[in-house]
Amino acid sequence: MTKITAAITAVGKYLPEYILTNKELETMVDTNDEWITTRTGIKERRILKGENKGTSFMAIKAAQDLLEKSGVDAKDIDMVIVATATPDMPVASTAVYTATEIGATNAFAFDLQAACSSFLYGISTASSYIESGRYKKVLLIGSDKMSSIIDYTDRATCIIFGDGAGAVLFEPNTDGLGFQDEYLRSDGVGREYLKIEAGGSILPPTEETVKNKQHFVHQEGKTVFKYAVSNMADVATKILERNNLTKNDVSWLASHQANKRIIEATANRIGLEDEKVMMNIHKYGNTTSATLPLLLNDYEKELKKGDNLIFAAFGGGFTWGAIYLKWAYNA
Ligand code: UT7
Repeated sequence: MTKITAAITAVGKYLPEYILTNKELETMVDTNDEWITTRTGIKERRILKGENKGTSFMAIKAAQDLLEKSGVDAKDIDMVIVATATPDMPVASTAVYTATEIGATNAFAFDLQAACSSFLYGISTASSYIESGRYKKVLLIGSDKMSSIIDYTDRATCIIFGDGAGAVLFEPNTDGLGFQDEYLRSDGVGREYLKIEAGGSILPPTEETVKNKQHFVHQEGKTVFKYAVSNMADVATKILERNNLTKNDVSWLASHQANKRIIEATANRIGLEDEKVMMNIHKYGNTTSATLPLLLNDYEKELKKGDNLIFAAFGGGFTWGAIYLKWAYNA
């Protein structure tokens, strides 16, 4: 029997119009363009403005962009996963609403939350459903409205994050293209260093929690940075070794966009040239679940059938890992 692999066959994206520049941030907190650029590589990020617009607003737009470009009928989609750390609401899945709004009426849907690794884990999940032969079309969307959980008086976090969404379609492939291998990790030690303290079951919302700004992201940047650098390099090395790949076999590194220095450290560890490292952090900042699919959208025209892609991500929890995938089409 021919082996079924899970290939990405289409991509789509959505970015809000509003551009929050480093210059504008200079008017909001005690920071400057030079510090942000040298420490993070970020020049600007997008912010979703407007009432009643949440993560699903962007997820729907990204999915519609994919459907329009690919000509796929939404009714043929079997399953919709929305990878997100900022669901529309705590209960009532963002993915379910998204699926209904795009007309994927024959699909079932759910959200997947693993902080900045949500989309990476989503690739694993979507691929498994395809490889098993159970489903033929799985839509994986990464969407985050980070501006909804950021304190714009906290210079340690507000300069980093942005809003956006990207979508990819997984379909069966019998030529060996698509998902090849994964090395996924997690460690609860990370909970202390990157979190939103209140609003969950441990500390439900009260006037006090709102006053104390406990509904915003708090991050010990330096500690997270150290874990991110060593762990991303570690998984990238492991996935190459396990698949007998040298740096020359790697066509592209698609790394989570949290900090340009972390991405460069990961690329250096596996000896990868700059030209092979996908980068768009300067334009969008850290969009959490949307960084990986936004990279695929931005680089789609340069990707060739058979290219070896290494995905790597690190996020809160801690959650991290690497995935090896063979690109399946020429745009
Ligand atoms: O995606 C999820 C995972 N998250 C990450 O991977 C993020 C990992 N962390 C980072 O990317 C970096 O730690 C940050 C970009 C958040 C911070 O960069 P850093 O080089 O680690 O800076 P730092 O926190 O060590 O701060 C260095 C100095 C401090 O001043 P002193 O104590 O040396 O006088 C900060 O107060 O820079 C100061 N500082 C700032 N200055 C200007 C901190 N934030 C700012 C700012 N503008 N926005």
